[in-house]
Amino acid sequence: MVANKFLVAASAIALSSVALTGCGNSGDSGSTESKKGDSITMGFAQVGAESGWRTANTKSIQESAKDAAINLKFSDAQQKQENQIKAIRSYIQQKVDVIAFSPVVETGWDTVLLEAKRAHIPVILTDRAVDSKDTSLYESFLGSDFVAEGEKAGQWLVDNAADSDVNGDGKINVVQIEGTTGAAPAIDRKEGFEKVIASDPKIKVIASQTGDFTRDGGKKVMESYLKSQKGIDVLFAHNDDEGLGAIEAIEAAGLTPGKDIKIITIDAVHDGMQALADGKINYIVECSPLLGPQLMDLAKKVVAGDPVEKRIVTEETTFTQDQAKAALPSRKY
Ligand code: AHR
Repeated sequence: MVANKFLVAASAIALSSVALTGCGNSGDSGSTESKKGDSITMGFAQVGAESGWRTANTKSIQESAKDAAINLKFSDAQQKQENQIKAIRSYIQQKVDVIAFSPVVETGWDTVLLEAKRAHIPVILTDRAVDSKDTSLYESFLGSDFVAEGEKAGQWLVDNAADSDVNGDGKINVVQIEGTTGAAPAIDRKEGFEKVIASDPKIKVIASQTGDFTRDGGKKVMESYLKSQKGIDVLFAHNDDEGLGAIEAIEAAGLTPGKDIKIITIDAVHDGMQALADGKINYIVECSPLLGPQLMDLAKKVVAGDPVEKRIVTEETTFTQDQAKAALPSRKY
């Protein structure tokens, strides 16, 4: 009986360790030695696996860690802040050399980041920012300018306003599917988009709800818009996955996506680009998930005590339907 209890406890510990280390890493921290110059151990707390973008981002981080000979401890928070905080605390306990994470929401990080600082473990933010007055809690923030992404989406609509008045009534009714509530890309993309479209009084956002950056979320929100909103001309979805889910809802309602409702999304992952090339999406603003190589370089510098830039903005472009057709054959994700 005692032996059985011991076995159960031992398997529980092993399982939680697997959940935190994920795939593609050794599991042993070895951090005391690595601080003396051996291999670096990084604890990475990922948001989840909510979108095609996130899958490509995780792959980029895992492959780049391997290429850079960095021992990666990887955890998937399943889009819950409390899981990310637990993972970060576990990395602190394991005395990793550096912690990197993509915060699921902007606020509520000061306490755990202060714990990392007191333990002398540097933190790098990737993809998403935290909303904190104390910028000494992290070394660098590597990721996109989400406000600029929203502005680019809005600018396309302003520039294509005549074609986007699908119902031909002189008004352009936009429905918006937002990303995860409280997440930096959802807040910033909304802000950028709404700021730019305000320059044209014909364009109005008539409804805006979260789709949580998922395909299922996008589909459900679009289904409800199709029932509750009249005269929808345009959909602005905060990522491709939400847009792809919305396309399913639009087609199920007997409408033609890209024609009966113009669609603008953000990300430019493979499925989104295919839908753009097929004419179901009208415009995509790129958000690059390939942050791994830059993150590993930053980690090496930070651990060596070399100076790094506090903010590194990812280079990104935009795609029309013709540009998507040309780019698809060589698209990496
Ligand atoms: O933080 C980046 C965003 O998060 C991507 O646009 C989205 O697809 C992801 O889930």
